[in-house]
Amino acid sequence: MPGTASPFDDDPCVGRVVVGEDELRDRIAAIGKEITADYHGRAPLLVGVLKGAFMFMSDLARAIDLPVEFDFMAVASYGSATKTSGVVRIVKDLELDLSGRDVILVEDIVDSGLTLSYVRKNLLARGPATLEICALLVRDGLQKHDPQLRYVGFRIPPDFVIGYGLDVAERYRNLPYICVYDATGEESREPGG
Ligand code: IMP
Ligand code: MG
Repeated sequence: MPGTASPFDDDPCVGRVVVGEDELRDRIAAIGKEITADYHGRAPLLVGVLKGAFMFMSDLARAIDLPVEFDFMAVASYGSATKTSGVVRIVKDLELDLSGRDVILVEDIVDSGLTLSYVRKNLLARGPATLEICALLVRDGLQKHDPQLRYVGFRIPPDFVIGYGLDVAERYRNLPYICVYDATGEESREPGG
């Protein structure tokens, strides 16, 4: 990114920027305002799906002018590094009771929508007063079921993306923007680089 040196500057796997830092900041501020208006007088409980959503949730929470609370769950989906199989397993469960709460489920990216539909059903079974979904990214056109998204950051093209919480094999989560992952770069990447 212009002006900022990053440890990924010379990384051949880091492709074109899909959502830049300024766009992220502006859109998240707008979603925060919307949530602030929609939940006026209430204290929503933000439920983040680890690990991908951690950075988005942190910035989103600071854009909401309400007394929010947090909880996290982690799910693992069986599948390859870049594709979900649809079989989802909870590897870290929530700590708070959802009954009667206004829950906002915060997701990093909706691809097939399988992870989300599993988590959504699971949370609904715990009796929240309301449950809405806030997804930073939606990959256009691939969802088999309508995931009923209340808040969406950006709709993006089919490329696999990294950064701002999103990883490939745990790398690149700390890129401050979202860009395309170029797998062909793996061949020329220096070890440890
Ligand atoms: P879904 O179940 O197919 O919707 O997959 C959603 C999950 O797969 C997300 O929560 C991410 O953890 C992961 N994922 C999907 N697409 C990407 C991507 O482009 N980059 C990084 N992770 C992704
Ligand atoms: Mg993931």
